Amino acid sequence: MAKPIKKAVFPVGGLGTRFLPATKAMPKEMLPVVDKPLIQYAVEEAQAAGIEEFIFVTGRGKSAIEDHFDHSFELETLLKERGKIDELEAQKAWIPPAGHTAYTRQQEPLGLGHAVWCARHFIEDEPFAVLLADDLVLSDTPCLAQMVEVHQRTKGNVVAVMDVPREHTSRYGVIDPGAVDGDCVEIRGLVEKPAPEEAPSTLSIIGRYILMPEVFEHLSKGERGASNEIQLTDSMAQMIGHQPFHAHRFEGVRFDCGDKIGFLQANIAFALEREELREGVVSFLKALDL
Ligand code: G1P
Repeated sequence: MAKPIKKAVFPVGGLGTRFLPATKAMPKEMLPVVDKPLIQYAVEEAQAAGIEEFIFVTGRGKSAIEDHFDHSFELETLLKERGKIDELEAQKAWIPPAGHTAYTRQQEPLGLGHAVWCARHFIEDEPFAVLLADDLVLSDTPCLAQMVEVHQRTKGNVVAVMDVPREHTSRYGVIDPGAVDGDCVEIRGLVEKPAPEEAPSTLSIIGRYILMPEVFEHLSKGERGASNEIQLTDSMAQMIGHQPFHAHRFEGVRFDCGDKIGFLQANIAFALEREELREGVVSFLKALDL
């Protein structure tokens, strides 16, 4: 039996310069899609996949994230006094129980691999998940839950992948694919941000990972890769051949919310999913007559 995946790491230390001035005094992970911050979508996706421990790798200026996943005494008292019991319950439902969140600081912006390595003391000898809140997936079954199912079958590392236009490979970790079994693709190699002409395929990693704890042995070496950063992809690549490693072509649509167009598309797509908003959004879009 594969050990259950109970812990997830959320690297949230990034500065979010692409969204200035919005992110000057507010973490980019708190940007809302419709009415919910990006980081809450990621936490709820993790909860839906059975995650019970939430480890945030933060940085300076990120304290709003900690406040967000805590009870707000004033808000809860006010809702109670006004008899808004449904709203009160709805606001409390997604807050992890006491002692189930942990925060550690990345201290230096040395890359995604370094951010995950900063969480090493919170993970024991167990597989764990990593979720990048910038990548938002709209799907019937939450993306991480799909991956947990793959992990239970393959008993190894799993990353979520999608095909991207070849001219975009330099934005992603790209896989060298092996045997294909439905949506599950064996990984023979991994390259971080390859130039289009050098990419082994166009199957690219989006920010969802299930990793075996051995990844920390490789991350601990602190080797620099693309952009002179400590890349998670490089440490993952070193596990290939030693442990099962698969890519999951997830069901769903991924929005790159680290990018303005992706973020705007996510807002429209998620608003269209909401019964109370759908009609208003559709009539606005139709009236645009572009
Ligand atoms: C990171 C990873 C990359 C992955 C991407 C997904 O890159 O390094 O392998 O494909 O996230 O969003 P970043 O977007 O932080 O440059």
